Amino acid sequence: MLKHTTLPMPPPLLQLRLLSKAYPGVRALAEISLDLLPGEVHALVGENGAGKSTLGRIVCGLTHSDSGQMLLRGQPYSPASRPDARRLGVGMVMQELNLIPTLTVAENVFLSRMPRRLGFIDYATINSQTRQILHMLGLVDIEPDRMIASLGVGQQQMVEIADVLSRKCDVLILDEPTAALTGRETDLLFKQIRRLKSEGVAIVYISHRMEEIKRIADRITVLRDGKWIATHQAAGISIDEVIRLMVGRELGEASSRKRTPGPVALRVENLRRGNVVRDVSFQVHRGEILGFAGLMGSGRTETMRLIFAADRRDAGHVYLHGSSTPARIRSPRDAVRAGIALLTEDRKQQGLLLPMPIRANITLPKMSAVAPVAGWISGGKERTAAHRYARVLSVRARSTEQSVVELSGGNQQKVIVARWLYRDCDILIFDEPTRGIDVGAKFEIYHLLSDLAEQGKAIVVVSSDLQELMAISDRIAVMSAGRLAAIFPRGQWTQDSIMAAALSGYRAAAV
Ligand SMILES: Nc1ncnc2c1ncn2[C@@H]1O[C@H](COP(=O)(O)OP(=O)(O)OP(=O)(O)O)[C@@H](O)[C@H]1O
Ligand SMILES: [Mg+2]
Repeated sequence: MLKHTTLPMPPPLLQLRLLSKAYPGVRALAEISLDLLPGEVHALVGENGAGKSTLGRIVCGLTHSDSGQMLLRGQPYSPASRPDARRLGVGMVMQELNLIPTLTVAENVFLSRMPRRLGFIDYATINSQTRQILHMLGLVDIEPDRMIASLGVGQQQMVEIADVLSRKCDVLILDEPTAALTGRETDLLFKQIRRLKSEGVAIVYISHRMEEIKRIADRITVLRDGKWIATHQAAGISIDEVIRLMVGRELGEASSRKRTPGPVALRVENLRRGNVVRDVSFQVHRGEILGFAGLMGSGRTETMRLIFAADRRDAGHVYLHGSSTPARIRSPRDAVRAGIALLTEDRKQQGLLLPMPIRANITLPKMSAVAPVAGWISGGKERTAAHRYARVLSVRARSTEQSVVELSGGNQQKVIVARWLYRDCDILIFDEPTRGIDVGAKFEIYHLLSDLAEQGKAIVVVSSDLQELMAISDRIAVMSAGRLAAIFPRGQWTQDSIMAAALSGYRAAAV
């Protein structure tokens, strides 16, 4: 690890001086000063709503600060727009995906710089150049002519990263780039980050994943409530200390109290869809949290979507509450009626009504993805409930009347979680529920899940965070290459045994 204290400091590439930014009712940034050195990975951490994305957006020209100034290579820097910043060598991978789902991978990558030949898009060129860009990142299994919508969120995220990395830049901001990625993709990204670092690029790395920050960061800056709290050499500070600085208080342990599961709430038999889900059978009891581990693309999300009838299954049945006749679930609407909730991994598809207030988003009576959104009743009861869940999840907002579009990414995620809690279903399926959620709020969600289980709900949690699964689950199911490879009861799993099960299906296929 580089020790800046013993080496002469290179002149900063980017200097932020007393940047401030206010939105109605909130000080998103308050007099932030920061130097970015060439060849450093500078982690920016803080709770949801601390101001990290706002800082990134100012640097990459998406928004302006109210006061303060920036210097790039010693010169005054005030980008008028994102393309303007890009021309000056400042790029950003945004927290929210910005791809157009109905275009292909290559079309998205070349959207702003489409080579045309006689007025037609030169597909041969953009496809082959996109392939090169993807290969550079090690993404050999994504075809340039695939429609974006047909890719998983993780792959979409990688396409977006590839797009930004394919343009030369000196300052790169990565806003939660790995939120949707698991092991292999994250490794590929880190390889690129190391390469860029060695080329002298200054990188701002925004993440809620402390173990990544420990792995990749040279320095760490902590923001809290829009204020600068501290900047440390990564080597000189522990994760616990960073978290303490972030939240300004001590956190409890994730509760893994011993629960006694009740009767079976959900039984899934031989669920199948193509090669993606192959004869998956399992059951979940009332009062139980069943975790789902596996690599990205192992079929976990797909399995949950089949239970919920968000996709058509080729075969298999779902039984509810000990019934011996299969449940008639033909659409997500049927599923909701049968008391099943699915919180999907992609919050954009969850149909958050961005301009609407938090309250309406939580109390929406219908799934907007499948039903027209109209005619909710906004009585005092809804208001109280919305308020309660927003508080339980510590959604940071002026009030539940604030519109969702104004919330930070993590707080939008909490609104979705709150919506499903409000629905009061018996069977709750959460796909990556804590993605993009800060450490403090994560613990609140763990406690909440545990409380819900204790109230007799059956809970399924898909997560790529193994620590998280091991902390909250009563049993962990492991999927591999579309099959259920193993189910471990609490006390009988180790990180290694789970990883081995997660890889088992691919090893078998390779032989
Ligand atoms: N367009 C906007 N209008 C009103 N308020 C906004 C707007 N954008 C951001 N904010 C507010 O500014 C504050 C900082 O938000 P920001 O998105 O920078 O947080 P963050 O640190 O990136 O959080 P997260 O970890 O959840 O992504 C929040 O209180 C947020 O609600
Ligand atoms: Mg953010």
